[in-house]
Amino acid sequence: MNILLIGSGGREHALAWKMKQSPRCSKLYIAPGNAGTSLVGENVAIAADNFPALGTFCIEKEISLVIVGPEAPLVQGIRDYFESRNELQHIRMVGPGKRGAQLEGSKDFSKQFMQRHGVPTAKSRTFQSHESEQALVYLDQCTPPIVLKADGLAAGKGVIISPTIAEAKHTILEMLVNKKFGEASSKVLIEEFLDGIELSVFVLTDGTSYVVLPEAKDYKRIGDGDTGPNTGGMGAASPVVFAGSAFMKKVETQVIVPTINGLKKDGIAYKGFIFIGLMNMKGEPYVIEYNARMGDPETEAVMTRIDSDLVELLEACATGELHNKTIQINPHYAVTLIMASGGYPDSFEKGHAITGLNAASPAHVFHAGTSRKENAIVTSGGRVLAITGNGTSLEAAARQAYETAAKISWKDAYYRKDISQDLARIEQSAAR
Ligand code: AMP
Ligand code: GLY
Repeated sequence: MNILLIGSGGREHALAWKMKQSPRCSKLYIAPGNAGTSLVGENVAIAADNFPALGTFCIEKEISLVIVGPEAPLVQGIRDYFESRNELQHIRMVGPGKRGAQLEGSKDFSKQFMQRHGVPTAKSRTFQSHESEQALVYLDQCTPPIVLKADGLAAGKGVIISPTIAEAKHTILEMLVNKKFGEASSKVLIEEFLDGIELSVFVLTDGTSYVVLPEAKDYKRIGDGDTGPNTGGMGAASPVVFAGSAFMKKVETQVIVPTINGLKKDGIAYKGFIFIGLMNMKGEPYVIEYNARMGDPETEAVMTRIDSDLVELLEACATGELHNKTIQINPHYAVTLIMASGGYPDSFEKGHAITGLNAASPAHVFHAGTSRKENAIVTSGGRVLAITGNGTSLEAAARQAYETAAKISWKDAYYRKDISQDLARIEQSAAR
């Protein structure tokens, strides 16, 4: 079977690496891909949002299965586009249509969805641009810290946590009236602060049946000890010690099952990944957000823990036959370390040659923001490499990732030194 994977990050390199191991995968194309995906399959210079060109390419190369990595093409309706064209209707796709992708594309939609279907989440009220006066009055009754969320996609920056009511009032006016995030903040949610530990849970569903992938913890801040500004994610670890079997059972019965039943009740045919951002509050799961895709860098850790044939699972998802499938997960630990360009998440330089890649082992080196320039591989993004170590303990997995990272360099490369250490501490104190 010929497969097209859409996207260009570390998530896509890890998905490509895992798919390529399947005997069901003949040709694998990645659009547009990066220098890493070109080692696994063939890159195609078509942008993720150029649906007509992607469609034409699929016909030309006899693609049977399309996997959509990032959220933007999903929210823009890539599935709806393929389903609306006679010549593309036979092509199977992993990734929801426009309505299903609203779980990620609109925080107001997803909050209403959770409330309607009894999924535990933070209390929240939504205000529109013309309701800024009411929002200010409402804020007077709130207890800080206060969570303000832009309704639409805002490149991971649309959530602001205000320590005081005064600051929250200032921020909400910036968002609603001054359109701090453009149209994305023409609606803003004022939300109760959930105090707990966060984790990412991943589900692959065909709209009726589902499999639960390994869970992971993401490290969002730029600095050690979770300090400094938010990023796309500076590392990940799996499994997550505070997500034991009792907690995961609650996640399944209180969150996953109501979510999938809710989609069905709402008439949303959903075939794809659901990434559930969860807060564990004293052993109870609360949903922070849904995403209509896999997480990045979580995927780079999660893929190394799946023993099943990923292509078989993806095919079963796309054809509505997941009820026939189970997922085999190995008990090993995975720790992913992001090597980033100096300056990220603010401005940074691109185009620096990366050295040491050939000798970089034993960890997996997934590429995130890289490209080829003549015979060299150069940096081309903020997050450049995702290095995943595996081992029989968290420490062993982290050691492997850090040892491998130490062999790689470029001008101003940066990475956190403490990925997974918090989880190791929790494990140690639980063992005492
Ligand atoms: P999001 O863009 O929805 O992923 O939110 C970004 C981050 O803000 C989340 O990963 C959480 O760390 C934090 N966050 C969002 N909502 C809440 C909440 N209600 N309580 C506490 N933290 C939150
Ligand atoms: N790692 C968080 C995300 O992919 O949104």
